[in-house]
Formats: sequence, C-alpha cells, structure tokens
Amino acid sequence: MSGFRDPLRIETPTPGAATRLVIRQPDDWHVHLRDGDMLRAVVNETARQFARAIVMPNLVPPVTTVAAAEAYRSRIQAALAPGLAFTPLMTAYLTDTIDPCEIERGFETGVFTAAKMYPAHATTNSAQGVTDIQRIYHVLEVMQRIGMPLLLHGEVADHRVDVFDREAVFIERVLAKLLAAFPALRVVLEHITTEAAVAFVETAGPNLGATITPHHLVINRNAMFEGGIRPHMYCLPVAKRERHRLALRRAATSGNPKFFLGTDSAPHVVGEKESDCGCAGIFNAPVALETYAAVFDEEGALEKLEAFAAEHGPRFYGLSLNTGSIVLERTPRRVSPTMVVANTRMIPFQANASLAWTFRGRSSGAC
Ligand code: DOR
Ligand code: ZN
Repeated sequence: MSGFRDPLRIETPTPGAATRLVIRQPDDWHVHLRDGDMLRAVVNETARQFARAIVMPNLVPPVTTVAAAEAYRSRIQAALAPGLAFTPLMTAYLTDTIDPCEIERGFETGVFTAAKMYPAHATTNSAQGVTDIQRIYHVLEVMQRIGMPLLLHGEVADHRVDVFDREAVFIERVLAKLLAAFPALRVVLEHITTEAAVAFVETAGPNLGATITPHHLVINRNAMFEGGIRPHMYCLPVAKRERHRLALRRAATSGNPKFFLGTDSAPHVVGEKESDCGCAGIFNAPVALETYAAVFDEEGALEKLEAFAAEHGPRFYGLSLNTGSIVLERTPRRVSPTMVVANTRMIPFQANASLAWTFRGRSSGAC
C-alpha cells in the first residue's frame, strides 16, 4: 500500500495472503517485570516485542535509590534471552521521605528515566507510596527543574470514594492542582480508564500525556462478572463502563500524540489472583502488540498504530525513535491457557482466546 512513509507498511504480499503490518519497533511505556523467578518467566515476553520499557518500581522493598535501580536493571538484563536487544528504563518509587538529591542524581546519571507516584494504599505494593502529594512538592520542584517525568497512578486511595470513581476524583482533587503548581513538569497519567481522563488530557497542555493499556481497550467492567467472578480481569484502575472503553479506543486511535502505549502488564501467580483477596493486575505481555493491532484494525485505524506504539512515547520522553521494525500478520493465533512460573502458574490475558493478529517478530530490515 502506498502513501505511508517508512517504516510503516501495510501489505498483502499475494492475493488472498494474510495482511502484514510492518512498523517501527514499539516501546512499552509502563510494565511490571517483577523480580526473581517471576522476572525470568515474564521479561522475554516484553523484550521480544518492545525495544525499551519503562519498568515499574513497586517491588518489595520498592526501588527508592539509585543503587537499587542499578541492581534491578542488572537482574533484568541477566534474565534476557541471549541476543535479545532490550533496554529497561528504570523508575524511582516516590515516598513521603524520598531524598530529592537521590532522584536528581539518578536522573542526571541516566539511571532513572522517570519517577512514579503511587498514592499510598492505592494498589499493589503501594504501602510506602505518597500519603499526600504536598509532602513531595519539594521533590516535584526538582523534577520540574531537571525535566524528569512524573508518572502517576491516578487514583485516590480514599475508601469513601467509590472504586469506579477514584480516577475521576484524582483528576479533580490532585492532578488539576498539581499541574497548576508545576506548569512545566512533564506528567504521564498512567493507564487511563475514563472519559474524564481522556477529556482532561486532551485539554491540558503538552506536558501532560497518558498511557493506555490493551486490556482497557478490550474489556469493560462486565468482564469481571461474566458468569461468575473473574479475578484475571481485575486490575487497578478497574475497568469501567462501556462508554469509557469506547472513549479510550477513540483516544488511542485518534493520532493525538498525548496518548501512547503502556501495557501495565502486571503478572501475579494463580494463587494470588484466585484468592479470598486477589491481587490487582492483568498479565497481558504475551498478547500485547497483537491485542493493540486487533483494536486498531477493528477501529479502521491500522495506519495510526505505529505512531501510538512507537513514536508518541519517545517524543514525550525526549528519547530517540527506534530504528528497527517488527512484523504483525492478520493470521489467527490461539493464546495458551496458562504459563509456568517456578512451581506454579499464571493466566495470561485472553487465555485460550483466538487472536486475529499474530506477532511475527523483529523484521530482518529488508524492505
Ligand atoms: O492492576 C494493577 N497491578 N495496577 C497497579 O497499579 C499495580 C499493578 C501490580 O503491580 O500488580
Ligand atoms: Zn502499573
């Protein structure tokens, strides 16, 4: 097909053959790679698709120092399959008492790419998160000065607020004030789930961007209760009503550079999900690009996938675009029902489903 500049190509090699999409290699701007056995089980799912990923710091204990981030980065690199080129971009976990000098030193030395703010008790491993954003205003001052992005888990942790309203209330109570106080701070509202978030990001200045997950483009809140309770569809922010899912699909496929790919792939072993108090998190890494491709295809916007997946994110972060390409093919693929980790299992997003698109790997570069 003509009319697209390199490297994006949508092609049907011979009549009747499956359509192939060749795009610049994407990055994942939000992922949980965990540690130990889990890290080894999941990291190559991310690394085979993405050139770089913003790695979340919510380990136990959280990544709050430059030394901890460097050690974690080494463990990630050691877990990569031989020959797989992948760059983990490390983040700092903000606490009420984090040392701003440590944040600045980590950013200036290239160890920290960004810092993540979890409101305390908002989600998995957030107990040491920030209890009141004003307590870290002096840290945000430094981040604004040095150009370091702030990544937000955008939900209030106030249990009086309905769980489905916590993102919208965060925008009102926290985000609007934060942007007014730090007009030059680069901020990413992570894994947005609501019409309110889409509208807020669209109207804010260019220093506010947002990531959108594959699962929030595919499921609405009914998916958690389909014929019974479905713990593998539970994540935070929780999936919302259908109209919100549709707003996210419009935003992702709009071509607006403020919206970019962030999977929020968040693996937990089966016992932690299928439990009296199951963990939040959807493990979507094995199907990430294929899921996004299907969504863009369904929306008639395949030509917008490359920018969402491989251009908007690096431009927001001020990083170079990747030069390699990957290939996706419109061929059905069955997702495995389960994945082994140590002596237990995980259930991936879309387990057992038939996907319309198949990821074919990195392109040889021959055009
Ligand atoms: O669903 C989620 N899982 N949301 C988060 O914010 C954290 C993540 C995790 O670490 O499991
Ligand atoms: Zn996350």
